[in-house]
Amino acid sequence: MTLKELQQNTYSQNIIASTEVDSVLSVALHKNLEYLYKNPDKKISLGTQKKFAKLLALRLQNWPLAYLRKNKDFFGLNFVVNKHTLIPRPDSELLVEEAQKYLNSSALNNKVLDMGTGSGCLIISLAKTTCGEFFASDVKKNALKVARLNARKHQVKITFYLSNLFKKIPEQKFALILANLPYLNKEQMREPSISHEPKSALFSQNNGLKHYEKFLQQVKNYLAEKYLILLEIDPGQNEAIKILSKKYLPESQIDILPDINNLDRVVRISLD
Ligand SMILES: C[S@@+](CC[C@H](N)C(=O)[O-])C[C@H]1O[C@@H](n2cnc3c(N)ncnc32)[C@H](O)[C@@H]1O
Repeated sequence: MTLKELQQNTYSQNIIASTEVDSVLSVALHKNLEYLYKNPDKKISLGTQKKFAKLLALRLQNWPLAYLRKNKDFFGLNFVVNKHTLIPRPDSELLVEEAQKYLNSSALNNKVLDMGTGSGCLIISLAKTTCGEFFASDVKKNALKVARLNARKHQVKITFYLSNLFKKIPEQKFALILANLPYLNKEQMREPSISHEPKSALFSQNNGLKHYEKFLQQVKNYLAEKYLILLEIDPGQNEAIKILSKKYLPESQIDILPDINNLDRVVRISLD
């Protein structure tokens, strides 16, 4: 069977959009979409046809393409991902951009911590593009394995901690802490497109705020004299997070930054 025949057969079943068929085919063939358009007469082996059918069945069960492909681009870099890690989102690039600005302007202590590192996409993007001493933590061993793999892939030095929030992180002073901790509430967890991503990476009790409240309770001893904390939030949490930040870090300046869709996305808690 040729590539074009396999495409046409699958399109005609009308089980999934044709663009999705092409994306899954590109994963099965380990080729990009351009290759599909340029090689309609390519013979597809029985083995590859079976692999395609298996991947298509997974896609129909809402498995994200990034998990099928086992990687995802973020901040111009490619990261290994698997079912133990959240798939990096473009919205989170704002955290890296803000962190870059801060590191480029402050010449003092440049210790940086990424809490809830997952695939390591935030801290590795920063380590690739700025100078500093880089640390990252996660409560999940399997996520840290992927983050370590990505750090090796991108040849950056990062110290990793397996820790529930700050519990196992040796006390030290960070000038910059970024965190994209779980912040979705029960209602938001019903969204089918996220059903295969780890619940432990997404869900937080108390309407999505439990992790950030605990983080803010614990962070004080880890902050340098001057500091910046960057937290990714759900836009609906903007007022509640301001109140929590003021409660635990009353001396700080708190700003909320919008993402590219003009939705409140990043909390900036600073002292300078
Ligand atoms: C929303 S994901 C973010 C992953 C990655 N930083 C990113 O931006 O793509 C949240 C991460 O926090 C981790 N996490 C959840 N609870 C945690 C806790 N109590 N302490 C540390 N990390 C935690 C999860 O395992 C997950 O990797």
